This record gives sequence, structure tokens and C-alpha cells, in this order.
Amino acid sequence: MAAPLLLSTIILALVVVASSTHGTMANGVFQVRRKFHIVDGVYKGSDIGALQTHDENRHRRRNLMAAELPLGGFNIPYGTGLYYTDIGIGTPAVKYYVQLDTGSKAFWVNGISCKQCPHESDILRKLTFYDPRSSVSSKEVKCDDTICTSRPPCNMTLRCPYITGYADGGLTMGILFTDLLHYHQLYGNGQTQPTSTSVTFGCGLQQSGSLNNSAVAIDGIIGFGNSNQTALSQLAAAGKTKKIFSHCLDSTNGGGIFAIGEVVEPKVKTTPIVKNNEVYHLVNLKSINVAGTTLQLPANIFGTTKTKGTFIDSGSTLVYLPEIIYSELILAVFAKHPDITMGAMYNFQCFHFLGSVDDKFPKITFHFENDLTLDVYPYDYLLEYEGNQYCFGFQDAGIHGYKDMIILGDMVISNKVVVYDMEKQAIGWTEHNCSSSIKIKDEKTGATYTVQADNISSGWRIQ
Ligand SMILES: *[C@@H]1O[C@H](CO)[C@@H](O)[C@H](O)[C@H]1NC(C)=O
Ligand SMILES: *[C@@H]1O[C@H](CO)[C@@H](O)[C@H](O)[C@H]1NC(C)=O
Ligand SMILES: *[C@@H]1O[C@H](CO)[C@@H](O)[C@H](O)[C@H]1NC(C)=O
Ligand SMILES: *[C@@H]1O[C@H](CO)[C@@H](O)[C@H](O)[C@H]1NC(C)=O
Ligand SMILES: *[C@@H]1O[C@H](CO)[C@@H](O)[C@H](O)[C@H]1NC(C)=O
Repeated sequence: MAAPLLLSTIILALVVVASSTHGTMANGVFQVRRKFHIVDGVYKGSDIGALQTHDENRHRRRNLMAAELPLGGFNIPYGTGLYYTDIGIGTPAVKYYVQLDTGSKAFWVNGISCKQCPHESDILRKLTFYDPRSSVSSKEVKCDDTICTSRPPCNMTLRCPYITGYADGGLTMGILFTDLLHYHQLYGNGQTQPTSTSVTFGCGLQQSGSLNNSAVAIDGIIGFGNSNQTALSQLAAAGKTKKIFSHCLDSTNGGGIFAIGEVVEPKVKTTPIVKNNEVYHLVNLKSINVAGTTLQLPANIFGTTKTKGTFIDSGSTLVYLPEIIYSELILAVFAKHPDITMGAMYNFQCFHFLGSVDDKFPKITFHFENDLTLDVYPYDYLLEYEGNQYCFGFQDAGIHGYKDMIILGDMVISNKVVVYDMEKQAIGWTEHNCSSSIKIKDEKTGATYTVQADNISSGWRIQ
């Protein structure tokens, strides 16, 4: 994240099918951007380090997260997501760019009275601050509102406070407000209209650490973690959406779709989410195959405990594996290429190769509970950074201080529709052309609407 900023080359659209009638099921649309620069599927040389710097920040955060900060309410630490989207808040609506993060649950934006907040950012230039007085629909959460369950306790000075800590030392604190969240709903094939729902979110009054760094500052963060305290859960509780979302990230064209609602096409096979954690989308990985041969690994290597497990994370760019898996994997992948000499670049193992890597390197298959598989091709895991120069995209989690977690990031979940079904506590995927379309169900009418990657309204309009 601290990388030289390669701005928003990937535009995704977050689509939520919605019905405007109060109290009925709906979905919605946001436009999502990605911070790293990928041209024709090729990571530009200088970006290789950037990918890693980004992920390193996330993982430092996550390490501390395991320590579980004893905070309540909106207080769950997170990891920085790669994607951000514009949303509208208030009446009249004001536009904010918030990070989309599947590894956290809090939703907050900077508040107007924030004294110690960056006011400019290399990503957004000028930041936008939430001003309750200029929104007629704004309501401060009161101490006796049931939603105010926060610690430190509510009092006249703090009102209803939230504190969210981050593992890299980043911290945001402020008070809770309720206001209208604006997004787009789909009401026909490729047709959207604006809608809004009242949600409670944090209004930041003080940012510190990484959140107080103008190089990477954004207006706020919206968490899509596996928790019942997310903005998505609030939309669901209001009867506005199902607790299902999906993304389809196109690593070649840099486009894609991010949708809330039930995907009816393509059909996706799922694996259960292992629920032993407040936020992550953890799954049961069973084995890893390289060119059809199963890697020989210790029996307990894939178990899920407080400190280990496998999670699907759209907010990480790469894939992090425990040292023992990493070494077996790299041996197997390069088994047929004893002539290749590896050179280290940042924390990558890189090499020179003439010819088509797709023909000469094996497919890697991850096997999950319920017979769900994840195929990873050479063009996914061999990052080309200059002509004929490639880096092995898998990372040894140990050198990143992240020993036992298996983090499956964008590198292996792009070019697939990935569905997060929090209602059934299942996650699944299927290979898909993310520059094409998907079909989403309107819960109210039962109709299914096509959402095309290159034809989604870019969010909502500012009045
Ligand atoms: C409100 O709570 C904060 C933190 O617990 C405390 O420092 C402050 O003194 C309290 N104020 C009042 C008026 O109780
Ligand atoms: C998007 O799709 C709608 C409905 O099919 C169509 O009316 C509109 O012209 C399309 N927009 C673009 C930019 O292709
Ligand atoms: C935020 O950064 C500014 C400028 O670097 C600094 O003056 C301020 O003390 C920082 N605030 C916090 C809470 O870290
Ligand atoms: C949220 O989840 C917690 C822990 O899983 C549970 O105790 C609580 O009842 C849930 N709340 C709602 C509103 O579903
Ligand atoms: C993916 O879909 C787009 C849009 O329909 C199409 O132009 C492109 O050729 C497709 N790519 C592949 C590899 O099929």
C-alpha cells in the first residue's frame, strides 16, 4: 500500500439488484477501483515490489489482529484492501471513496471535525469529510440506542464511540452516526437506478498510524468480512439485500464485477466457511496437486485453529503459504526445469525463460472440502515483469512474518466468479470471463438480470 501510487487502472462495478419498495429484498451497485497497475496481464517491472509492499502492510496488520484487540461495537481490526469504491452518504448525497475489504467488518468515513486526519491523499488528492450538519438525514447514535454497544462506554463527551485498531498500528476512532447510504440497484438487464438505505457507520474523529498517512489515505473503509456487524449485514437486516456478494476480477483487462445479491449464472459450486473467526472467510483446504501429483505434506498442515487456516482474500494480491508448503510447491513446479537459475528480487524468486510458460509449466490445483477445486495456471502464478523475465508469485508466508496462514489472494481468484454466501456460510467459485456478464436474481420479482462488466452505471450521481 505504501507503494509508488499507480492509480486506479482497474474499474470494477459493484452491482446490487434492488427494489425500491421499502422492506423488500434488493441489491446494489458500486464502482470499484484497484490501486495496482497491470497492463495486459503483465505486472510492470517496478510494480513487483509494490505488490509486495502492499501485502506486507496487510499482513503486519493481520498479525496483530490475532492478538484480538478487546474492543467492542465496530471494533474489529482489518487488513487494507486493494479495492475501493465510491459510495454516497447523506441528504443531499456526498460521494466518498472507501476501501472495500473482505478482511474486516467496520464501516467508517472521516468526519468533518477530525483534527488529526490527512486532508490530502496521493490516491484521491482531496479527501471528503462527513459533515452531519449538512445532511438532513443524519442522526447521531444515542447512548441508549440498542446499536450503541460500544466500549469504551458511551458518555456525554464521547457520545457513542467506535474504535477500530489495525495490526500495523493504524487506528481510527470517532462516533457512530446513522444516515442514508446510496448505491445503485439493478431493475432490468443492464439498467440501474439509485436507491438508499439507512445504515450506522463510524464518523472518524482521529486517525493514527497508517490511516494518518496522506500517501495512502482514503475517505474510509467498508468491510465485507464474515461478520454480522458489517454494512452488508445492516442492509440484510433492513430486508434490503441477501447476505451474498460476489466478485469477478479480470486480471487481463483490468475490469470486472462486484455484486451484492444471488448470482444465478454462472452456477458456482461451494465449500463450507469454517466459522472460528470473527471476520475471515476461512475454508477447509485438503490437498494441493501439481500436474496431477499430490504434494506430500504433514497431515495437520491444513487444519484451522486460532492461528492457522486458509482464507480467501480479495484484498491480498498474492498467495502466502507456510514455508513447508511453499518449498514443496516450488520444487514440484520447477521439477522439469533443473536448468533454471532463480534470482531473488524483493521477496520473489525470479528467472529468465524463453518460450511459452503456459506450455512448459504445470497447472496447480487446490482441493477443498466438498470436492471444490481451484485451478491455478502458469499465467496466474508466473508474474511476467519484463520480456522473458518471470517471478514465482507464491510467497513464503514465513518471511512475511505470517507463518501458518494460507492466504489465497487475487493471483488465484481472478478470472473466476467468487461467491460469498454468508447466509449458507459457504464460499465458491467457477472459472468465468470477467469481461463478459453474470446474471443476478431480483429477490422480489424472481427475475434475473444480466450485469455486463463494461456496462454498469458508475455508481450513483451526486446531486
Ligand atoms: C467519557 O469516557 C472517556 C473514556 O472512557 C473518559 O475519559 C471521559 O472522562 C468520560 N467523560 C465523562 C463526562 O464521563
Ligand atoms: C447498457 O445496457 C443498457 C440495457 O441493455 C443499454 O440501454 C445501454 O445503452 C448500455 N450502455 C452502454 C454504455 O453500452
Ligand atoms: C497525524 O499526522 C500529522 C502530520 O504528520 C501529525 O501532526 C499528527 O500528530 C498525527 N496524528 C496522529 C494521531 O498520529
Ligand atoms: C452476531 O453474531 C454473534 C456471534 O456469532 C451472535 O452472538 C449474535 O447473536 C449475532 N447477532 C445477530 C444480530 O445476528
Ligand atoms: C470475454 O468476453 C468479452 C466480452 O463479451 C469478449 O470480448 C472476449 O473475447 C471474451 N474473452 C474470451 C477469452 O473469451
